[in-house]
Amino acid sequence: MPSPRFIKSHLPLSLLPPSLLDKTKVVYVARDPRDVAVSYYYHDKLLNLTKPENDFKHYWKYFVSDNISFGPYFEHVLEAWKKRNHPNMLFLFYEEITKDLPRSIQRVANFFGKTISDDQVNKLADHMDFDNFKKNKSVNKESLQDIGIFRSDGAFIRKGKSGGWRDYFDAVMSAQADEWIAKNLQGTDFRFPHLTMEKLNNSYPLEINDVEPEVADMLMKYFTGEHTGFVRVGKKGYFLPHKFKQEAWNIYSMEIRPTDVFVASYPRSGTTWTQELVWMVVNDLDYERSNSIPLTERYPFLEFSVYVHPVMMERFREENKDSERKLKLLEYVSQPGTEQLVDAPSPRFVKTHLPLSLLPPTLLDRAKVIYVARDPRDVAVSFYHLNKSMRTQGYIGDFKTYWRFFVSDLHHWTPYFEHLKESWEKRNHPNMLFLFYEELSKDLPAAVRRVSKFFGKQFTEEQLTRLCEHLSIESFKQNKSVNYDVMSELGILQAGTDTFIRKGKAGGWRDYFDEGMTSEAEKWISDNLQDTDMRFPHLQQ
Ligand code: A3P
Repeated sequence: MPSPRFIKSHLPLSLLPPSLLDKTKVVYVARDPRDVAVSYYYHDKLLNLTKPENDFKHYWKYFVSDNISFGPYFEHVLEAWKKRNHPNMLFLFYEEITKDLPRSIQRVANFFGKTISDDQVNKLADHMDFDNFKKNKSVNKESLQDIGIFRSDGAFIRKGKSGGWRDYFDAVMSAQADEWIAKNLQGTDFRFPHLTMEKLNNSYPLEINDVEPEVADMLMKYFTGEHTGFVRVGKKGYFLPHKFKQEAWNIYSMEIRPTDVFVASYPRSGTTWTQELVWMVVNDLDYERSNSIPLTERYPFLEFSVYVHPVMMERFREENKDSERKLKLLEYVSQPGTEQLVDAPSPRFVKTHLPLSLLPPTLLDRAKVIYVARDPRDVAVSFYHLNKSMRTQGYIGDFKTYWRFFVSDLHHWTPYFEHLKESWEKRNHPNMLFLFYEELSKDLPAAVRRVSKFFGKQFTEEQLTRLCEHLSIESFKQNKSVNYDVMSELGILQAGTDTFIRKGKAGGWRDYFDEGMTSEAEKWISDNLQDTDMRFPHLQQ
């Protein structure tokens, strides 16, 4: 073969000629072993190497027990990793390449001492783009299909995505995979750059525990939007989807700007109402912008992405595939809030349902937080309706069952009272404003004045009247900018069910609670208020 020769090998360095690295160049590429395993599984299927009855679960067992060709996986990767600083070694990660192809091209060019222009980089990036690669007969090994080595119902160039493994792992497998990865990385300085989990293991100060598999399985029968499981986070055990693990550290360590404004709450406590009120006050009653830019764009929802399970995301993509605009919108709303916020201009407005302890510890000292709380019985009724209509939750049970989950801390963002108490304890911090839904409901102008004072703004009576009119439930229902139309448009909010802005009344819970539930709720509330001076204003005589 004429020089220069290009050689592909899956052998680890120790099985290749010992002089290799000193004589020639090696480019090594590593990928998240869970994605490798899924991809390898399909590759073996393509070659008819797996028995049809062996599903991925079987395959994964072989993979992690090193009973797979070219394994043990971590030994293989670590051998190359140890040599990553050798001048003849370039160590790449698949996830880096998919995240920023031009940057990886530039790294390869530098490694080979080549100078290439931006145009050339872009052209090569286009050539190597997944969709083009899939069509490129020179690389997609279609010929092996033609001569029958590969089955005809698969493809060598398959999905080209990072993180697709999540569709194949149940809660137990995911937990085992986490453990297996952590165990293999112990005592090494090898880290996958895309795995915040690694950072989690090292720096995240809060405990994250998977919810027991039997409980998770039971809950997933009721909440059909979740497909992997749930976790409990921190000392209070805040209940969140399994995917929170990926975002926990990014959220906790996000940079806070002094101009940031966070609107925080337990869901269905009047967050949207408060968001619009706060935004209008801070932006000197700019009705034009408020009406033209949807609230979802004005306020990234910090942790919404963790509620969009990859299985649901695939479904939403499929359903919206005919509209480029909708697909873009879908990607935007399901992108981690931390990513949306990185380049957002100041002042940034952030919506979150996370309790203070899961947010950056510097938050209150650097930025403003407006927290809104509501009677938990109204919260539960309202959230029950939303859980039924939001397909990311997909609740299919009745209200009584839902209420049980809610008070047993088996529901998203619970324990409810711990959530409130964390902010209540900070209510006198100069950067914290603590509001109640019932307070807004009873005397909106007074609440608007509180918010204005908090931000050092003053408005005339006329301005106040107009703002209160703008914030009324009737206006809100008509106001496309705040009523979450986008969620309905994308099919995330099921058509023909309750709208995001629903009744807007305090005390509606009475229609949903029978006598037994009413007295049980009263006891639950008073038990939980025992160790705090927090009181709901409407429940005080
Ligand atoms: P209901 O379902 O009881 O009607 P969040 O924004 O935190 O998800 O809270 C939603 C709740 O606030 C819903 O309660 C919704 O109808 C209510 N809400 C939204 N805008 C409102 C407004 N302008 N006035 C009164 N209630 C409002």
